[in-house]
Amino acid sequence: MELKGKNALITGGNRGIGRATAFALAERGVNVGITYFRGKKKAEEVIESARARGLKACAVQCDIKDFKQVEKMVSQVIDKLGGIDFLINNAGISGPSSRIDDISVEEWREVLDTNLSGSFYCCKALKGELVRRKGKIVNISSIAAKMGGTIGSHYAASKAGLLGLTFALTNELAPHVTVNAIAPGPVDTELISEEVKKKLSALTPFGRIARPEEIAHTVIYLLENDYVSGEVIDVNAGRYMD
Ligand SMILES: NC(=O)c1ccc[n+]([C@@H]2O[C@H](COP(=O)([O-])OP(=O)(O)OC[C@H]3O[C@@H](n4cnc5c(N)ncnc54)[C@H](OP(=O)(O)O)[C@@H]3O)[C@@H](O)[C@H]2O)c1
Repeated sequence: MELKGKNALITGGNRGIGRATAFALAERGVNVGITYFRGKKKAEEVIESARARGLKACAVQCDIKDFKQVEKMVSQVIDKLGGIDFLINNAGISGPSSRIDDISVEEWREVLDTNLSGSFYCCKALKGELVRRKGKIVNISSIAAKMGGTIGSHYAASKAGLLGLTFALTNELAPHVTVNAIAPGPVDTELISEEVKKKLSALTPFGRIARPEEIAHTVIYLLENDYVSGEVIDVNAGRYMD
C-alpha cells in the first residue's frame, strides 16, 4: 500500500516509540493524529513538524483507560484529518512495582486498563472506520508477552493480552483490515530507567538496546504490506538466540 496521503492515529505519539513513528509516517507523507496524556508540549512539537511538511496533523489529550474519552478523541481526529486509515496502539505504561508481593490490585488494574483495555477501546471505537477504509492496526506489544521480562507480571500479562487481541481481530476483521503486533525488546525511551537500560544492553546480542526509530521502521513495514496479518514481529536483535 502506498502510504502517502493516508491518515494515521498513533496513541502516545508525543514521545518515545510513538513519537518516532509519527515522524516516520510524516516523512512518508502520512497525515498524523496523535494522542497524549500529560505531555502536551511534546505533542505540539510533533504536530508542528508534520504541519511544516504541509500535512494535516492534530494532537488530542486522552486518557485511553476511559472508553468515553477514546470515543470522543476518535471522532475529533476523524474530523480534523477527514478519516483514519491506520491505528497504532502504542500508548502504554509500566507500573512502579515489579514483584507480585509489591503489585497492588490498583496497580494491576492501572497497567491492564492502560495497556490492554485502552488498545481494545481504540479498536472498538475505530472498527467501522477501518473496515470502511480497508485500514490497518498495529499493536505495540513487548518481548515481555513471550518471555515474562523483568517489568512485572501486570505488564507481561497486558502485553500477552494484546497478542490475543491481535489474533482475535485478525480473524474478525479479515479481509478488510490487517491486524499485527510488534514485540520489541528493550527500547531507548523514558519507559525504562538509565540503570535498567545499561543492564539490558549487556544482555542483548548487539550490546545495545533498540532505538525508537527501529520500532517505527517495523510499523512502516506492516502498514505498507497488504498480506501480512495476525503476525507478531520480534524486534530484539536476536535475544531468543541466547
Ligand atoms: N521502551 C521499551 O523498552 C519498550 C519495549 C517493548 C514495548 N514497549 C511498548 O511501547 C509502547 C511505547 O512505549 P515507550 O517506550 O515509547 O514509552 P514512553 O516513552 O514512556 O511513552 C508512553 C506513552 O504512553 C502515553 N500514555 C501513558 N498513559 C496513558 C494513558 N492513560 N492514556 C493515554 N496515553 C497514555 C504517554 O503519554 P504522556 O507522555 O502524555 O503521559 C506516552 O506518550 C508502550 O506500549 C510500551 O509498553 C516499550
